[in-house]
Parts: sequence; C-alpha cells; structure tokens
Amino acid sequence: MSIKAKFITLEGVDGAGKSTHIQFIKKYFIEKDLSYVFTREPGGTVLGEKLREILLHNQMQAETESLLMFAARNEHVQEIIKPNLNKGINVISDRFTDATYAYQSGGKNVNIDKITILKDWVHKGLKPDLTLLFDLPVEVSISRLKTNGNLDKFENEGISFHKKIRNSYLNLAKKEPNRFKVINSSKNINTVQDEINLLLDKIFI
Ligand code: TMP
Repeated sequence: MSIKAKFITLEGVDGAGKSTHIQFIKKYFIEKDLSYVFTREPGGTVLGEKLREILLHNQMQAETESLLMFAARNEHVQEIIKPNLNKGINVISDRFTDATYAYQSGGKNVNIDKITILKDWVHKGLKPDLTLLFDLPVEVSISRLKTNGNLDKFENEGISFHKKIRNSYLNLAKKEPNRFKVINSSKNINTVQDEINLLLDKIFI
C-alpha cells in the first residue's frame, strides 16, 4: 500500500529549541526507514539561501520583507517541496508560511489580507499536513538566545516583538487545531521528544 507523502512544518519563536528537536525528528525518520527531505525557510534552494542572507541581516520595509519571504518560498515550493511530495518523499520544513503570518503580520503589522493573497498565489493549494508549534514563554526563549550569542536581525528584536510573534502563532493554532499541534517546549527534553514521537506515530504508523 502506498501512503501519500506528508508535508510537515516546524514553527515557534526564536529560541524555542527547534534545532535540538530537529535532530530528534531526523532520527525518527531514519529509524522508521521513512523517505524524507529536510529543508528550511527562508532558504531551501540556492536562490532561497541567498535571500535568507539578505533577509536575516538587512533592515528593510516590512512589506519588502514579506515579498522577499514569498519570493524565496515560491522557489522552495516549486523546486523542492512539490517535486518531492509528488515523488512520494515526505518533506519537513523548518518554518513555512505561518512564520510570515506570525512575524511580518503579527510582529510588524503587515496587512494580513496581503499575506493571504501572496500565500494563495505561491501555494496553489499546497498546505502542511501537520505543523508542530514549539511554544514557550518569551522570557525563557530570549534568555536561551542570549546564551547562544551571534544573533540575527529577528533574534535581536526586543521582548515585545517576540511576545507578538508568540501570540500570533497561538492564534493561528487556535484557528486550525487539526493541523497545528502545540508542544510545550519549556518541558524537559525527554517529555518534548516523547510528545513529538506520538504525534509523528499518529500520521506514519
Ligand atoms: P531560523 O531558521 O533560525 O528560524 O531563522 C529564520 C528567521 O526568519 C526567524 O527569526 C523567523 C524569520 N522568518 C520570518 O520573519 N518570516 C518568515 O516567513 C520566515 C520563514 C522566517
């Protein structure tokens, strides 16, 4: 029996511990012998990675930022995400369009309807099957970021910006409870990873 390939996205405020959990998720796919590609946004293609450099290290208008995010996303959707899903390969993306709703609309007040127009244009019906939202109080995420050092433009924003991002993500999750699974990322690592395991088992086993 062939099972339709799944598109999984990972979201959360900066400092939510995504990078640690990504290593665990990769291990899950390898151990279960599931085909997968791991990718990220902004980025995921040669052009997308160049746009990532520009986006993470240059100040610009919030609408310019939104347009560049979607320019990178269009390459990503057309070159990586759809071709792999069509070949039956699961795609896991470290961030996707929910991040534009949270950061550019929630965080920087870009009109939400404009983002939805770009989303419809670029996605052409594509939608994640599952979105894991790593959530934790921003006081905790910011203190984690500070210990990492070398912060990019978004990580360097103040606490009120990060609070807006967190609230936007939680509102998105409330609107689509079937797609979003909110994971309390301030719990200990084994508890978080058990929860990820269960959620992945639900769609792969
Ligand atoms: P990350 O790969 O460490 O998560 O960094 C990507 C940064 O880009 C992160 O701060 C969130 C931000 N971002 C947006 O502002 N809008 C978007 O649409 C995406 C995909 C990322």
